[in-house]
Amino acid sequence: MDAMPLPKSWNADQILNDLDQHGFALIDDAYSSEYTQALLEECTSHFNQFRDAAIQNGVMSQIRSDHILWINDELKIAQQHIDYLNALSEQLNQAFFLGIQEVEAHFACYNAGEFYALHRDNPQQKNGRLISTVYYLHEEWQEDWGGELRLQDKNEQWHVIAPKPNRIAIFQSDLLHEVIQAKQQRLSITAWLRSRSSIW
Ligand code: OGA
Ligand code: MN
Repeated sequence: MDAMPLPKSWNADQILNDLDQHGFALIDDAYSSEYTQALLEECTSHFNQFRDAAIQNGVMSQIRSDHILWINDELKIAQQHIDYLNALSEQLNQAFFLGIQEVEAHFACYNAGEFYALHRDNPQQKNGRLISTVYYLHEEWQEDWGGELRLQDKNEQWHVIAPKPNRIAIFQSDLLHEVIQAKQQRLSITAWLRSRSSIW
């Protein structure tokens, strides 16, 4: 079966090489302006369904203050992004034998003052998350608006990654990272490429 092609702006060789060397990669200008507009519109038109990410099973945690909406089949525009991430997963599986089987994703909204403290997305290798991706979908981001992704790469070097509109950050889910407090509303889609196996 032929795999779906990646968007032209995604340089698969570069992504695979950067992931191999550093454990993370960036894609800038990921999508057409028509698509990014449609995605932003789909996100903002569902704001009333976003929930506090800090509350899980009725328990409040202090480590994050953003708001999220899990993406299902009804969110048709976001689903296309997930289709592309599935295509990327096939390439990652071929190159690194990662065994990625599915993609789980949510929209995230950080209002001014919100953050996500230092964490790993797969702290005990239990949730099947192998690769984390974050797509930034706000229209503008200025240097002094905070909201950076701070990430320790696989060689223990720290990087401060601006949430540039239309950028995708891709990194190993076991790497330590945080979202610095944002000074403006910051919109994204976090998606995890994961194996279906999990011990839950
Ligand atoms: C996450 C996360 C980083 C970002 O959602 O787990 O770390 O830049 N996001 O939004
Ligand atoms: Mn994270």
